[in-house]
Amino acid sequence: MSTLTNLKWRYATKRMNGQKVPAEKLENILEAIQLAPTSIGMQPFTVLVIEDAELKAKIAPAIYNQPQITEGSHVLVFAAWKEYSVENVDKYINHIASLRGIPVESLSGMRDMITGAISGKTPEQLLNWNMRQAYIALGFGLVVAAEEQVDATPMEGFDPDALDAVLGLQEKGLRSTVILTLGYRDAEQDYLSAAAKVRRDKSELFVRL
Ligand SMILES: Cc1cc2nc3c(=O)[nH]c(=O)nc-3n(C[C@H](O)[C@H](O)[C@H](O)COP(=O)(O)O)c2cc1C
Repeated sequence: MSTLTNLKWRYATKRMNGQKVPAEKLENILEAIQLAPTSIGMQPFTVLVIEDAELKAKIAPAIYNQPQITEGSHVLVFAAWKEYSVENVDKYINHIASLRGIPVESLSGMRDMITGAISGKTPEQLLNWNMRQAYIALGFGLVVAAEEQVDATPMEGFDPDALDAVLGLQEKGLRSTVILTLGYRDAEQDYLSAAAKVRRDKSELFVRL
């Protein structure tokens, strides 16, 4: 099926049936998330891939007990970095140099650009910037989940303080940002499974100049 057909098939699934997402499909979705572009390319977030049923039950209250959490196969928690360390910037620069076979010194201008961009932001602006990068990756994951015919629900209906506490994110310098739950729809229980997709008309959404 074409990508657009798959995007019309997908919907934010409210009820899932507990069926597991096969490892290969999961890896393809994770790889799409890995391949998402980010501003300056540092991918300033971590994605927790939660499969363990006990842990899913433990985080559910922080996600207002939305049923997809325990009925889904995997819960992906996108957690933005709260800060960039000099070590992180250097790690990134060294990684580019090694993958592209170029001297680290040739990237000194880029290193300065990155540290300048970071130091010019308040901690709040930095976190906000990082969170926005996580949403791009969320989008990539949603599209490839649809291509894999895996149901996926993007979720920001949760209490980030509570979720961070259960997952110990604060100590790791992370802030939960958005969730992507993967699984398979329970068409009988889900009132939205047969509902028409609601979108603004293209003539309203796009201004063609
Ligand atoms: C960032 C984001 C957060 C969302 N949070 C939730 C959520 O917490 N729970 C939920 O059931 N749906 C959630 N949704 C689903 C939206 O309500 C849904 O995507 C939207 O109504 C469009 O419908 P569709 O995705 O089924 O086409 C969220 C969607 C996005 C993109």
